[in-house]
Amino acid sequence: TGGIIRKITNDELARHNTETDAWTCIRGKVYNITPYMKFHPGGIDELMRSVGCDGTDLFDEIHRWVNVESMLAKCLVGYIIADGVDGK
Ligand code: HEM
Repeated sequence: TGGIIRKITNDELARHNTETDAWTCIRGKVYNITPYMKFHPGGIDELMRSVGCDGTDLFDEIHRWVNVESMLAKCLVGYIIADGVDGK
């Protein structure tokens, strides 16, 4: 991702839906969680439930208190935007 933060549509998010190419969106921020997979204390299968889609609700159900913004700061890819915005 080259450290460039950009706008991401739901369509693009949905394309990164595998264990080796895993993106999720938490509170509007899109993270590439591929490198975090094997370190997640809740396991890979649980984390996979939020991959390619918005994981905010699942995340909050389990551990609202976890500081995802600081934990995954280096995994930030960009910000989600509504479909149909920016001509996409
Ligand atoms: C545990 C981080 C997403 C399910 C944890 C813990 C951390 C963490 C730090 C340990 C919490 C503690 O011991 O107090 C993250 C991050 C996520 C994420 C950074 C970013 C995407 C999810 C999602 C789910 C999930 C989407 C469920 C669908 C769980 C479960 C545990 C857990 C079940 C408890 C494991 C146990 O105590 O045995 N996660 N998590 N996590 N996580 Fe996540």
